[in-house]
Amino acid sequence: MSEPTEMPSDRKGDHLRIAAYDERTQQPGPGNGLEHLSFEALSLPELDLEQVSTACTILGKTLKAPLLVGAMTGGNALAGQLNRILAEAAERCGVGFCLGSQRPMLDLHDSSIASFAVRDVAPTTLIFGNIGAIQLRDHLSGQDLDRLARAVGADAMMVHLNPLQEAIQPEGDRDWRGIHDALAEVAASSGTPIVIKEVGMGLGAQTLRRLRTLGIAGVETAGVGGTSWARIESLRHLERTPRSIAGEVLAGYGTGTAASIQLAREAMQNRLVIGSGGLRTGLDVARGIALGADACAMAWPFLKAAHQGVDAVVTEIQGVIETLRIVMFLAGAPDLHQLARTQLVDHGLRSL
Ligand SMILES: Cc1cc2nc3c(=O)[nH]c(=O)nc-3n(C[C@H](O)[C@H](O)[C@H](O)COP(=O)(O)O)c2cc1C
Repeated sequence: MSEPTEMPSDRKGDHLRIAAYDERTQQPGPGNGLEHLSFEALSLPELDLEQVSTACTILGKTLKAPLLVGAMTGGNALAGQLNRILAEAAERCGVGFCLGSQRPMLDLHDSSIASFAVRDVAPTTLIFGNIGAIQLRDHLSGQDLDRLARAVGADAMMVHLNPLQEAIQPEGDRDWRGIHDALAEVAASSGTPIVIKEVGMGLGAQTLRRLRTLGIAGVETAGVGGTSWARIESLRHLERTPRSIAGEVLAGYGTGTAASIQLAREAMQNRLVIGSGGLRTGLDVARGIALGADACAMAWPFLKAAHQGVDAVVTEIQGVIETLRIVMFLAGAPDLHQLARTQLVDHGLRSL
């Protein structure tokens, strides 16, 4: 696949261009909470590094590492190229892959579906489809959701909650009434596993308490500390406006990733918890697993690499997996079950 060269001028094009090239989209300030946490490094680990296993099973699929390429794109030619690069790299590395919002398939079914078609380059790995909760409330039954998943060969669907992004977005949907009931109805009638995610504001305690009443497979945190959608939408305003100012002020608003993972594990009990939001390295993934995540997703770092092609994404993913394996070795954890039981130290002072 050749490198993408042109940027389309639609909303998804704006998002891809701003997210990939404007570092201001990465949240300023205190971070996602993981940066305070460390493992005790063992100088006598009593393990053979070659025997350390990062393998796991997520929704019935075996992965070489508890890692997903996070939901980003689809809907136009550039997005389609990026999806194929990211999905092929995920397949080669044995990690999961998440498509971006399939909203364009609701509006322009035939012309946009090709940009979500990745099963030919990723025939076996775990793939998630994606749709916004607003679109679900306004247009979809459980059977429609099943059709969206089938059309792209997805194993499961992610449904994103993004009220802060919509509030700042120039053309955003501001009426968020009735979303929980719509989710309940669709989750009860769909045959597809559903994972509910945020997009960078994090899932807080009250939200998680409401989500756990639904028949869903799990959640993805997308906590504060990574890509900021308040900031991206703020940058899409062509001039300084009251909403663009609000987007700046609220760029780091919400629940940090470390806190959101812990809250999600508590609320969801044995259901799937995917940690995300500013995870950038295999050390972050290890911290996420030790806090209670079953797997972690990273979006923005792989978008940057995707602009260089499949090999660049493969190198980045392999770097994350190798770092995770070495951290596990140094923490004395031969597998992910042991890593999940490993205590993290907060600034070397407080055990978690
Ligand atoms: C360019 C870009 C596009 C995104 N598009 C979507 C999307 O369509 N649907 C969705 O659920 N999340 C979307 N996200 C949010 C990510 O899946 C993720 O939750 C968020 O960016 C936090 O992860 P990060 O800090 O690793 O980027 C997008 C992120 C980026 C960077």
